[in-house]
Amino acid sequence: MPEKLAIEGGKPVREKPLRGGWPGAMMIGEEEKKAVLEVLENKSLFRYYGPNPKYKVAQFEKEFAEFIGTRYALAVTSGTAALNVGIAALEVGPGDEVIVPAITFIASAGAVACQRAVPIFAEIDYSLGLDPEDVEKKITERTKAIMPVHLQGVPCRMDELMEIAEKHGLKVIEDCAQAAGAKYKGRRVGSIGDVGAFSLQLNKLITCGDGGVVTTDDEEIYEKAVRYHDHGFFRGKEGGEPFVGQVYRMNELSGAVALEQLRKLDKIISLLRRVYDRVIDGIKDVDGIKLRETPDADGVAGVSVCFFTEDIETADKFIAALRAEGIPAGRLYGGKPVYSLPQILHQRTLNKAGCPWRCPLYKGKVEYRMGMCPKAEDIAMRAIFIYLSPLYTLQDADDIIHAVRKVAENLL
Ligand SMILES: Cc1ncc(COP(=O)(O)O)c(C=O)c1O
Repeated sequence: MPEKLAIEGGKPVREKPLRGGWPGAMMIGEEEKKAVLEVLENKSLFRYYGPNPKYKVAQFEKEFAEFIGTRYALAVTSGTAALNVGIAALEVGPGDEVIVPAITFIASAGAVACQRAVPIFAEIDYSLGLDPEDVEKKITERTKAIMPVHLQGVPCRMDELMEIAEKHGLKVIEDCAQAAGAKYKGRRVGSIGDVGAFSLQLNKLITCGDGGVVTTDDEEIYEKAVRYHDHGFFRGKEGGEPFVGQVYRMNELSGAVALEQLRKLDKIISLLRRVYDRVIDGIKDVDGIKLRETPDADGVAGVSVCFFTEDIETADKFIAALRAEGIPAGRLYGGKPVYSLPQILHQRTLNKAGCPWRCPLYKGKVEYRMGMCPKAEDIAMRAIFIYLSPLYTLQDADDIIHAVRKVAENLL
């Protein structure tokens, strides 16, 4: 007889529900406090000058580039800003198409459209990353770039994607918002494509509340990124060719926190991995569920554990049952593709000209509709995520295993 499920009145595995998420934030301590106070006490909150500047942002950029393994890192105000700056620096814009996965956060596709390029959606595979085969099918003469998104700390199939990009002369911008520190075949994500874009928003591996980083090895791309993020200026560098830009500069308070968080990133990942590895090991033999594929199992950051049920109805029941057991389970973005959001689906823009979709420079015609990436829509609805925390103990990991096995025994 299987144990009675909590959802049916049985005793829950956890009396006190587990709370996952906010990995970086949960590790905030004295270091961040001290660093912020130092900036405040010196009244120097701006990254480039002040009464007694501490240059926290500059130091953060130096250490971030070293950590990721790129020549350059540019700190900005958000992950969305990092995508916008990265896309702009690649000179992708009006008339161009960028291939984006069907399942991702709005920012990935939104930044493309805000840069006046057209997002084209491709399927994902069981790693929940871009499916290289479908990417190749979506390439047209207007395609300029591919955007792999390393969702929930799991790197995409970068070898295949880079090969396709090379074959077709496309740029690659990695959306690393959810994967700071994750590795693919020994290289950190954000150092493989032409540009990496990171987020430091609260629910990320490291955080300063809101912030982002652009990484690249290319000096020209870096210079364009710097100029685009600061009115076209490149402070401290003579010459060059200014162009009009935006302001996405990170301030020193954010930089102070980001720097201390970065110094904890290896620790955060190793704490997550301790729990992640144990849970994966404890559920891998459960009949009727399929674990998320990992193009490089060693490189996963361990933000969440993910597995698939055979059908959507079972996933609904599995999630509800896990929650009743006190386990933080759910679907990513409600299991919905990013093109189901009205601003993308209906191609809504603020001004009436309707660029990028109805732009005279755009020679293609795209329509978005539900069902356009059927594999992604199906996979996402069957994908169950359990969110982890660097604060979880091994007992917490065992509770997750217990709950998954208990629910599986009852439902499958
Ligand atoms: C995949 C992905 N891309 C981009 C972003 C945008 O980052 P931000 O919220 O810092 O603008 C996020 C984060 O929320 C994300 O999850």
